[in-house]
Amino acid sequence: MNQSLDNEFCAIIDFGSQYSQLIARRVRENRVYCEILPHSTVAADLKSRPLKGVILSGGPCGVYEEGAPTLDPAIFELGVPVLGICYGMQVACQTLGGEVTPSEEREYGDTALIIDEASDPLFGGLPERLQVWMSHGDRVTSIGDQFRAIAHTESSPLAAVRDKDLRFYGLQFHPEVTHTRDDGKILHNFLYKICRFSGDWKVRNYVDHAVEEIRAQVGDERVICALSGGVDSSVVAMLLHKAIGDRLSCFFIDNGVLREGEAEQVQELFAGKFGLDFRFIDATDRFLEVLAGVEDPETKRHRIGHQFIEEFREAAKQFEGVKFLAQGTLYPDVIESISPNQGASVTIKSHHNVGGLPDDLEFELVEPLRYMFKDEARQIGKEIGLPDAVVHRQPFPGPGLAIRVIGEVTPERLEVLRKADAIVQTEMAKLSDYRRIWQGFAVLLPVRTVGVQGDQRTYDNVIALRIVESSDGMTADWVYLPEETLARISSRICNEVQGINRVVLDISSKPPSTIEWE
Ligand code: XMP
Repeated sequence: MNQSLDNEFCAIIDFGSQYSQLIARRVRENRVYCEILPHSTVAADLKSRPLKGVILSGGPCGVYEEGAPTLDPAIFELGVPVLGICYGMQVACQTLGGEVTPSEEREYGDTALIIDEASDPLFGGLPERLQVWMSHGDRVTSIGDQFRAIAHTESSPLAAVRDKDLRFYGLQFHPEVTHTRDDGKILHNFLYKICRFSGDWKVRNYVDHAVEEIRAQVGDERVICALSGGVDSSVVAMLLHKAIGDRLSCFFIDNGVLREGEAEQVQELFAGKFGLDFRFIDATDRFLEVLAGVEDPETKRHRIGHQFIEEFREAAKQFEGVKFLAQGTLYPDVIESISPNQGASVTIKSHHNVGGLPDDLEFELVEPLRYMFKDEARQIGKEIGLPDAVVHRQPFPGPGLAIRVIGEVTPERLEVLRKADAIVQTEMAKLSDYRRIWQGFAVLLPVRTVGVQGDQRTYDNVIALRIVESSDGMTADWVYLPEETLARISSRICNEVQGINRVVLDISSKPPSTIEWE
């Protein structure tokens, strides 16, 4: 890693908590560069990094469970402060000679924390009584001589502990979730007052860093880039262009499952602009062929993923010996696709740009946004001069409308969805707070219901509206658009789109639902 990106580094060791990514987001929001590392990380892995702090995440196991992840004790000898959260606290206390008592019962939810040592720098700026979020089974029940308790709850005398020389803190609760009403102060205090980070991580530094890394990775070789026109791949294309100029060729592949007018819009934005070598491939027929007769969403994803690779293999033949393929993979895609036995959260679905790649892929991947969150990708886009229309584009999944046509994807069903979705996009864009919406779109359901139009009985399909707010797509809340907007969307779809006689609104959050219906 280069100095400008990584002159200070916080390691988050992941014991499998659903909140590990949230910890990383909170740390980045504090302008501290961090990465999530597997629990198999040992002190030697960290020695070459400019480490200033370590956070041990929570996790689903009990420390006594067979196969429960352990911690390398040498991490405590690296000379940097360590913060253990929940399982991270238990495994650290166990490693350092404390005692953990297993429990069948989970303590879950809001709890009042009483701070016993208000002068501790970790609690700077906090009241002596604080609502915190607990979610644990086992708990630390005894600590060695070198520790002391600094906060308790009614049922946990050791809700927060620290050792004498400020090198280790353990918290039984989760400071990273907003249900802990500390206004982010505990993590902030840990990073600034205890680890003494300077907080100079900025997206601006990242542009220069990425350019250098790309040059180091690809040398004098040529790179082809999958440019979809979304913010992630557009940023990647611009970074590569900055790094290697005309040794970059961007391919826009029309996979036949794009939204109305999308192929034309992307061409208009990029063809002949920014000095990019932009090439258009119409692969509609080939994609629709591999999708014919397929209803299962994972099969759709895999077939689309494989077809993309086929298209790139073909595209690469336009040049001699292309070794590198650039993609807009983001950190959440990487985290969501890591398997549980590598230490991070469970695989929910295969993102086609990470999980679905064939084993015999002969390109080396260039993924400059691999450690970035969506909001950071947007900031980088702004920084390198992409137009607002690209920077603030709503995310659109790689498998496109294929996962929004529920059931079989046919040209006719795609056309119905495309028309309905175009109405949603047009009406949504009229809202003054449009940017508050993370994604809003139509889904075509494989259900027919009875309706009446004029004097005619109809028996047609249903469109569902999915409109959500989110900060990174990992969690989401449904949005209630103004009634007149909803009414206009509904009446326009029923009147203008043949084959639809009913529009319903999806009022589910993620979790337990997901954003896409699939
Ligand atoms: P879910 O449905 O998992 O979606 O709640 C979370 C976010 O990810 C987008 N998404 C994808 N993006 N390739 C992508 O680039 C994919 O295969 C893919 N699948 C889902 C989805 O639109 C939402 O923003």
